[in-house]
Amino acid sequence: MLNDSQARTVLADAELLFAADEVQHAVRRVAQAINATLADQHPLLLSVMGGAVVFTGQLLPMLDFPLDFDYLHVSRYGNDKRGGELHWKVAPRENVTGRVVLVVDDILDEGETMHAIKQRVMELGAAKFYSAVFADKNIGKSKPVHADFIGMELPNRFVFGYGMDIHGAWRNLPAIYAVKEH
Ligand code: IMP
Ligand code: MG
Repeated sequence: MLNDSQARTVLADAELLFAADEVQHAVRRVAQAINATLADQHPLLLSVMGGAVVFTGQLLPMLDFPLDFDYLHVSRYGNDKRGGELHWKVAPRENVTGRVVLVVDDILDEGETMHAIKQRVMELGAAKFYSAVFADKNIGKSKPVHADFIGMELPNRFVFGYGMDIHGAWRNLPAIYAVKEH
């Protein structure tokens, strides 16, 4: 966790990658693509807490067809910047059985989180799996899963804002920032 002055310093030292209006354009593009693809499938939308909370909250009112909503809570990073063990706080449950499922997350990094979610959801007998991520990080190697709907491509840097945190801070920013490389 960052204290108040550490959080402010991190933001002051960060680089703005995408401003809030670019973020909003990306969300609208994703919503249009989802509307075009899933309108007749009555999907169960699963939002991955806590990073997807901002993206999901803006995306949902832009979807113009009937759907059901639930959430998962899984964290991979804990409070550390490096990828690690997956920790399920709320795992997928039986309500996915037989459903077209759309999992919404903030960012596809190495893809391990989305891959694990997909495995659990399919094991529980979902009819079809889709994923939407606000951002796809260009990590320069292949990922175990690809997202069906992607808001924006991001460079292989640690980013925060728009739901993504840096040591717990700044999920509330409307824009995307990257930690400066030294
Ligand atoms: P993956 O399993 O490597 O794809 O990691 C995906 C998860 O890690 C996402 O749900 C994010 O919560 C988190 N994550 C990955 N990259 C970043 C980042 O640059 N900033 C903040 N969170 C990140
Ligand atoms: Mg996450």
